Amino acid sequence: MNKNLAALKKEFPTLNERFGGRRLVYLDSACTVLKLRCAADAQRRHMLLLGGCGGKRSLHSLASAMEENFHAARSVAASFMGGSPEEVIFTAGVTDAANLLANSFPFTPQRSEVVLSPLEHNAVFLPFERLAAAGRIKLRVAPLKDFGVDLDGLARLVTRRTALVCVTHAPNIFGGTADVRRAAEIAHAAGAYLFCDDAQYAPTHGRCGAADGADACAFSGHKLGAPYFTGALCVKRPLLERLRPSRVGGGTVAEVAAAAGRYSVRYLGGYQGFEAGVQNYSGAAGLAAALERLTRAGFPAIRAHVSSLVSASLKELGGVKGVRVLGRPEDIPGGSLVSLAPAVKGFSVPDFSLFLNEGVKGSLIAVRTGRHCADLACLNSGYAETIRLSFFAYNTPGDVSCFAGALEKYLSLLGRGK
Ligand SMILES: Cc1ncc(COP(=O)(O)O)c(C=O)c1O
Repeated sequence: MNKNLAALKKEFPTLNERFGGRRLVYLDSACTVLKLRCAADAQRRHMLLLGGCGGKRSLHSLASAMEENFHAARSVAASFMGGSPEEVIFTAGVTDAANLLANSFPFTPQRSEVVLSPLEHNAVFLPFERLAAAGRIKLRVAPLKDFGVDLDGLARLVTRRTALVCVTHAPNIFGGTADVRRAAEIAHAAGAYLFCDDAQYAPTHGRCGAADGADACAFSGHKLGAPYFTGALCVKRPLLERLRPSRVGGGTVAEVAAAAGRYSVRYLGGYQGFEAGVQNYSGAAGLAAALERLTRAGFPAIRAHVSSLVSASLKELGGVKGVRVLGRPEDIPGGSLVSLAPAVKGFSVPDFSLFLNEGVKGSLIAVRTGRHCADLACLNSGYAETIRLSFFAYNTPGDVSCFAGALEKYLSLLGRGK
């Protein structure tokens, strides 16, 4: 861990907490990253010291200070995502963004098919599955190959009827990353758009799919140490101009008029048409503070550090007979996580999870087990549950060894070692 990351690590107060007297070994950053002090401070400042309303609703100083900071946060998010501020819609995270996109998308009878990678999180899969169940679109799911998306198989499903292709940049279940540049080329060659889910990619790569040709991409703030229920959707202008906002309300209106007994409404264009109602101003301030702090620490260093931890896990866990590492060893370090499947009789994933939580002397080892909201991947791979170790800038090789030791202990309790 370099000097900048060592300094950054001190700014995650949860790491200093003791849980029943035990230290925390946090290996669940793919679920949510621990929160940065500067993000919490910025949120608190905006709530307690400002507390006014943005969106140019009121003209007093409290409101204009909030609006100015909201505007500044949008610029920070835009440069992180590879778009312009006018292309950034603040959201509550990727779930919110994908619902917004699905329900605002200009499907036509001629262009009504959506092609998904088989690794889409339920956040992306379900909004489109719902439209398909209602008969409004046709859904196609690309094949899985070596625990990644098979882009040749995906290309075969993309036709002139395809409106949108969705690819998760870094899957949350099997590790590695997807080639978004190639996915964009495939979508664009058929006249379709590409949406990229950057929930797992953005936090340790420091960039999003818009920089690789995606027409829209989204990330969640809480996976970057920012407040819960923050995030952004970046939609490049040609697509943004074609979306029809699924939600309307205060802040989205240019003019409401009455004539001949009827009301007519003219809505604002661009991102303003999508941010209905009073916004999460304090959350956006916290999000910007987190992005700026991580940028200062250096995303290239974060990426290198996380990759080295993933590689160390492959080395330590790859030879353990009681589990199988899922994915191709050469692909996995490109992501930020390692998924294991039990490979011996009697291995109970929920029991192991409880053992990590309560049965390791001096440490509470937090990992995620189960389906990871990745039902498409589970159904397509045949793996119903996995044990997932996921990393962020604050993890160390010692965390990996601590997990490996606990795994050996659990296996020996089952009567099987290495
Ligand atoms: C790949 C991926 N996409 C989408 C989401 C949903 O993000 P959120 O719950 O912040 O909306 C997650 C969350 O775990 C994820 O891992």
